[in-house]
Amino acid sequence: MKKNEEYDIEIVDNGVNFEGIAKKEGIIIFVDEAIIGEECKIQILKVNSSHAYGKIKQILADSNYRQEPVCEVFKRCGGCSCQHINYNFILNLKTKIVENSLRKQGVVYDKLSSCIGMGLPYYYRNKVQYPVRMDSNNNTKLGFYAKRSHEVIENVCCYIQDRIIDMVAKDIFSRIIALGFNGYDEISFSGDIRHIMIRRGYHTSEIMVVLVVNNKSLLNDNRFISLTNDLVKKNEKVKSVVLNLNENNTNEILGEKQKIIYGENYITDYIGDYKYYISSKSFFQVNTSQAEVLYNVLKEGLELNKKEILFDLYSGVGSIGIFLSDSVKEVYGIEIEEEAVKMANMNIKLNNVENAEYITGSVEDRLEEFKNRKIKPDVIVVDPPRKGLDDKSIEYIIEFKPRKIGYVSCNPATLARDLKSLSKMYDIKEIIPVDMFPQTSHCEVVCILELKEKLKNEFV
Ligand SMILES: C[S@@+](CC[C@H](N)C(=O)[O-])C[C@H]1O[C@@H](n2cnc3c(N)ncnc32)[C@H](O)[C@@H]1O
Repeated sequence: MKKNEEYDIEIVDNGVNFEGIAKKEGIIIFVDEAIIGEECKIQILKVNSSHAYGKIKQILADSNYRQEPVCEVFKRCGGCSCQHINYNFILNLKTKIVENSLRKQGVVYDKLSSCIGMGLPYYYRNKVQYPVRMDSNNNTKLGFYAKRSHEVIENVCCYIQDRIIDMVAKDIFSRIIALGFNGYDEISFSGDIRHIMIRRGYHTSEIMVVLVVNNKSLLNDNRFISLTNDLVKKNEKVKSVVLNLNENNTNEILGEKQKIIYGENYITDYIGDYKYYISSKSFFQVNTSQAEVLYNVLKEGLELNKKEILFDLYSGVGSIGIFLSDSVKEVYGIEIEEEAVKMANMNIKLNNVENAEYITGSVEDRLEEFKNRKIKPDVIVVDPPRKGLDDKSIEYIIEFKPRKIGYVSCNPATLARDLKSLSKMYDIKEIIPVDMFPQTSHCEVVCILELKEKLKNEFV
């Protein structure tokens, strides 16, 4: 097989990024935007020893699940990956991705539910980070990165963002251009503004604007004051405007230093009946209505009672622990980001929760403290980042021997790896994928584990 050769092939599967998968001459070929069951004429783009990449030249027989993408820049923009596939079929594919990850690790479980989708799988993102970039003609652009590149694709309407966020971003963009600011140039590291980040409360409509600037002197630039005055005058829901300084040559969006130029460094929003402070840097689920579904699925699976102690590990602003606080006796949470823990402790007060405590630090280091204080959890919830749990944390969790574990995961591969370790002591009762990120291949999963019957009465 060689580059540029053309083949007629059948797509036999879709991979974890929804890429089509075909086999030819013992080589696996990944084909962007091809759907299982389709026959395509493809052109080979690149060949490695065991696999190759191809692009569709012509669809010879298309899938019943193929549809016209709603967005006109879908093919170029890296924001979405599956607008060309029917949504119900996407939910099946997401369930299958989870099933395949579990099979690869040989994980045994009682039940895998179908992925829970959204009624309207668009306009859901409550936080958007728009790159502001200088192009080769020295024009400043606002948009999203193209697929596999940092070229900025401009678009009129993004179908997965909150509509108001999109409108506010475009308004801010035209104002910063009128004020004479320019976008960041990733080659020379020059320019004024790197990103516009906007958060908007799904239930409260409160808006936070973060302008990421590339130079310390910009923190005192009065043009930002006049921009903010105009913004606030036009939209009373703008509650917070923050300048963030990022002078580093990395892909990190936010830098350390911040200057609040209007309001506070937070807005509020609800999940269920609970109200949360959310700051510029703290993690908060980007799909609020599905977060509520996810937390309820978790609550139902854990079957909590008011005599129990719950650990909320990787707790962010305390959203899960606070959501579950009225079903248990005590909640203890650990989170590595100091600012998120500050928000979590403010959130406890905001909701009159008197039985929760959040501490700063890494789960692997700070679980020891709870052990020393002889606090023994009946139930542990973990919601780690994509890399999943580390061995030390798994050892602690197993030593605590909780009655149930709720594992919330954003990465089926690391979830399956960790379930394999935990399944020595726990039965995996139910696995429930929840679609938090429609139109993308990202997959969120809730998993309920129960201590094996024979271990329940064993003395620890
Ligand atoms: C997927 S978020 C979950 C947040 C929260 N449970 C929620 O639902 O909003 C993962 C969180 O883990 C935190 N984190 C990452 N590594 C950590 C570690 N080693 N120990 C404690 N927290 C960590 C991140 O800062 C982030 O807030």
